[in-house]
Amino acid sequence: MAKKVFITGANKGIGKQVAYQMGKNGWTVLIGARDESRGLAAVDELKAEGIDAVYVNIDLQHPETISSAVSVIKSQHSDLAMLINNAAIPGDMRKPGYEFTLDELREVMETNVFGTFDLTQQLLPVLEKNNGRILNVSIPIGMSDFFNPFAYKMSKAALNTITQSLAQNFSQAAKPIEIFAIMPGGTTTDLNGNMTGDFMKTAPEAGKLIADIIFDGQNHNSEIINFNGKVADYNNGLF
Ligand SMILES: NC(=O)c1ccc[n+]([C@@H]2O[C@H](COP(=O)([O-])OP(=O)(O)OC[C@H]3O[C@@H](n4cnc5c(N)ncnc54)[C@H](OP(=O)(O)O)[C@@H]3O)[C@@H](O)[C@H]2O)c1
Repeated sequence: MAKKVFITGANKGIGKQVAYQMGKNGWTVLIGARDESRGLAAVDELKAEGIDAVYVNIDLQHPETISSAVSVIKSQHSDLAMLINNAAIPGDMRKPGYEFTLDELREVMETNVFGTFDLTQQLLPVLEKNNGRILNVSIPIGMSDFFNPFAYKMSKAALNTITQSLAQNFSQAAKPIEIFAIMPGGTTTDLNGNMTGDFMKTAPEAGKLIADIIFDGQNHNSEIINFNGKVADYNNGLF
């Protein structure tokens, strides 16, 4: 199997660290970024570490860039073996849900759900041909007094559903594709204003945690895996 992965939002934060970990494991890393200079800077940084890194422009808010990224992959990287849907925005994490405008919700959903789904769907033929894997980087969506960012949680609930539902579709149709999610837990990045604290990990720690699961040799189809390695159960015994 070719070792080639496309990671969205890989110019910084957790995505860049997953790229680093996979690159050090001999993978070619396609660095998805919406801004060319930020994308190329990350590629240069990874190359300086001896990693085979390539910049691919993609802005999940702009469908035409999703299609052009897919064209580049189909023509130049048709041996792609893994897609990591990492790019995301949180929206306003403090504002109560009832104060969100539809436009604000749409922006978060467009990036974290619709753009991400569009990319995933368009890459399915390539991934299916290569017995590929899809990893969605996600968060827990259960109720919590400490963590209740409305738009972010709403979008990741949809992403978690996409993960489980497509996994069922793939296995029922005997498609040779695996889809799963990892929730790395609180990590100090731009997404949360670089929040620190005892319960927070660094981006390199999150990248290593994710890579360890990617490389554990297991089939994780349908699983939404927490940072402690446990598979989340969102069914609450209802089904
Ligand atoms: N940080 C945490 O505590 C935490 C915890 C659990 C899960 N996660 C998940 O981990 C993933 C990475 O987050 P992070 O913490 O590393 O955040 P980050 O440092 O803010 O990185 C987010 C990445 O997504 C990119 N991005 C944003 N909007 C985009 C768009 N429209 N098109 C393409 N790329 C776009 C950003 O690009 P720009 O540089 O151009 O903005 C950046 O590369 C996310 O899915 C997040 O939900 C994070």
